[in-house]
Amino acid sequence: MSESRKQAWQALKDQPAETLTQLFAADPDRVAKLSARLAIGPGSILFDWSKTHLTDGLLDGFEALAEAADFTEMRRKLFAGEVVNPTEGRAAEHSALRGVGKEASVEEAAALLARMQLLVEAIHEGALGEVRHLIHIGIGGSALGPALAVDALSRDLALVDVHVVSNIDGVALEAAFARCDPATTLVAVASKTFTTTETMTNATSALKWLAENGVSDPYGRVIALTAAPEKAVEWGVDETRILPFAESVGGRYSIWSSIGFPVAMAVGWEDFQAMLDGAAEVDVHFRDTDGRANLPLRAAFADLFYSRLRGAQTRAVFAYDERLRLFPSYLQQLEMESNGKSVTAEGKPVDGPTAPITWGGVGTDAQHAVFQLLHQGTHLVPVDFIASIAPGDELDPAHHRILLMNCFAQGAALLVGRSAEDPARAYSGNRPSATILVDDIDPATLGALIAFHEHRTFANAVLMDINPFDQFGVELGKEMSNKIDRGLSNFDASTIALGEAAGLG
Ligand code: F6P
Repeated sequence: MSESRKQAWQALKDQPAETLTQLFAADPDRVAKLSARLAIGPGSILFDWSKTHLTDGLLDGFEALAEAADFTEMRRKLFAGEVVNPTEGRAAEHSALRGVGKEASVEEAAALLARMQLLVEAIHEGALGEVRHLIHIGIGGSALGPALAVDALSRDLALVDVHVVSNIDGVALEAAFARCDPATTLVAVASKTFTTTETMTNATSALKWLAENGVSDPYGRVIALTAAPEKAVEWGVDETRILPFAESVGGRYSIWSSIGFPVAMAVGWEDFQAMLDGAAEVDVHFRDTDGRANLPLRAAFADLFYSRLRGAQTRAVFAYDERLRLFPSYLQQLEMESNGKSVTAEGKPVDGPTAPITWGGVGTDAQHAVFQLLHQGTHLVPVDFIASIAPGDELDPAHHRILLMNCFAQGAALLVGRSAEDPARAYSGNRPSATILVDDIDPATLGALIAFHEHRTFANAVLMDINPFDQFGVELGKEMSNKIDRGLSNFDASTIALGEAAGLG
């Protein structure tokens, strides 16, 4: 670690430890200082980090760390389309799809999106006959973003009924078949590489299902979403139905590209564009704001305070909104696949823990299941709450009022705790949380929420000196799975026994 980084971490360690109650009592401006509102589309998002332990001293210290980590230069490189993924020699240009980035990349992205818009609108207008269902086949970043956005945004009125299938377990694909009419179904094959075993196996089975159910030209019902269009052609998809995206867009950052096709199919182009625009507003904030006022960076300061200085091994995210029920699983890939690393960007062992384990769920369900541990367990778990002021339902307003009351009460209870004579009934309090409160869940705020977390992830990586854009940790298991196919003999005794028991030997 560089001398300046070491000094910055030491200064952070030397900061006094105060409880949240003390921090609120000592500073009447705490909420004003640590919460901020970003205008997004027609609404806004409030980011309240006041219930974390961040102080002026810690913020000074983290700003010094950001300087030692060359954060400003790394951010410039990110938006300039320069190499920020050194192990693969690549840029990371997902923001170009939102219109923010290197000019040439923004233009290229706009052209690809224009092509996607033409196809989406043509299909909506009947160019491929009646289309009532879309089976979207992809995995990881090629599935989690589409699943989240379709689920969040098309509950009231989906223009097309979308089924996202990721698992190689045929049960998943069969469930989609059972709910689709083959004569009015399109199949989107979403894979950056167009080689992923799960996706290609599922896609082949989907074609077979179409053929066996009276569709005379199954390939004519396929749309390929990929950064490897030549592979899609080889596989049999006609070029007019291939929607490419740039190699410099990482899988877990690809919802903005043609991987977002099912979202545009479900909500229409205007709303898909609004999602990109909402994300762009966060890009501009992240690109142009310095120090603690930069909200994704500020969130990363708090993340690192807990993971590196307080030993938190996990961070929990609870969406107090049914429309965001898939947000925690989306974040798991974004954060853990990006920052679950053991070496620095230069390939040296890291000097502290990297990404905590991201987990979470939906409020209020989670309160009746896992919140016991958050309030009284022995682990320190920083919590993020995400909620919407506007309801997603049209039932008695009591539903949404109770939902929000519960969300805010949980943060307050974690903060203050409660003393009791009976130790089993006592709450220590002083447990941190952050709250993200959106005016409403709409395409723009969803785009902004996702972009906020992308940049938070990047900021964490820069401060930890790791590369968030590769994922070599997923390779070994894939290779060994192929090896099992060739024979069990070179495996450990346990794996051989399991394989033989299941008849794989
Ligand atoms: O195995 C991990 C991974 O490469 C992810 O990074 C990616 O999102 C997913 O697999 C799917 O990859 P592809 O889009 O190339 O099928």
